[in-house]
Amino acid sequence: MRIGIYVFSLHGHTKILAESIKEKLNASGHLAEVVAVEPVGQMDFTGRAINIKPVPSIEEFDALAIGSPVHGGRLSAPIVGLLQEISSFEGKPTVCFATHFFPSMWGGRQMVEKLKETCTEKKADVVGTTSVCWLGLHRQKNIAIAAQELSALLSRETN
Ligand SMILES: Cc1cc2nc3c(=O)[nH]c(=O)nc-3n(C[C@H](O)[C@H](O)[C@H](O)COP(=O)(O)O)c2cc1C
Repeated sequence: MRIGIYVFSLHGHTKILAESIKEKLNASGHLAEVVAVEPVGQMDFTGRAINIKPVPSIEEFDALAIGSPVHGGRLSAPIVGLLQEISSFEGKPTVCFATHFFPSMWGGRQMVEKLKETCTEKKADVVGTTSVCWLGLHRQKNIAIAAQELSALLSRETN
């Protein structure tokens, strides 16, 4: 199955997680692709939607993963912009992921819940969420666990 992993990443952390998810999915026989979501012009950190460069339509994929860093306890502005552009996720099993710096109770958890809620409002079947804290000794292990979990959930949906 074709799986689109849409991600914004300012400093590369969330992209590393996106690439790990892609590797796991491709190792399971899927055709996963990372789609970089990039702002047009200046970044904005206020949680408002901003315009993004053109990305492939979600209709090109059978399932989706959407990832964002936490910015001030909120979704990154380019991902808010992406979500605004998509009118319906109907028929697309979706997983949501985040990376953050502080313990998840300081924004990470609420951001990933907001991402799930927004996708669900647009009729996505959100089959899993995860977040990885970039601070800490077990980061590599946590990236591997998160990627394994999300790819297993998507594989279950699309097989
Ligand atoms: C403007 C800004 C705001 C941030 N706010 C938070 C926050 O509220 N909570 C948190 O845990 N991390 C916060 N972070 C840290 C990032 O979420 C974290 O480093 C993330 O892994 C960065 O991912 P990226 O490299 O893909 O951009 C913030 C970073 C920036 C630049």
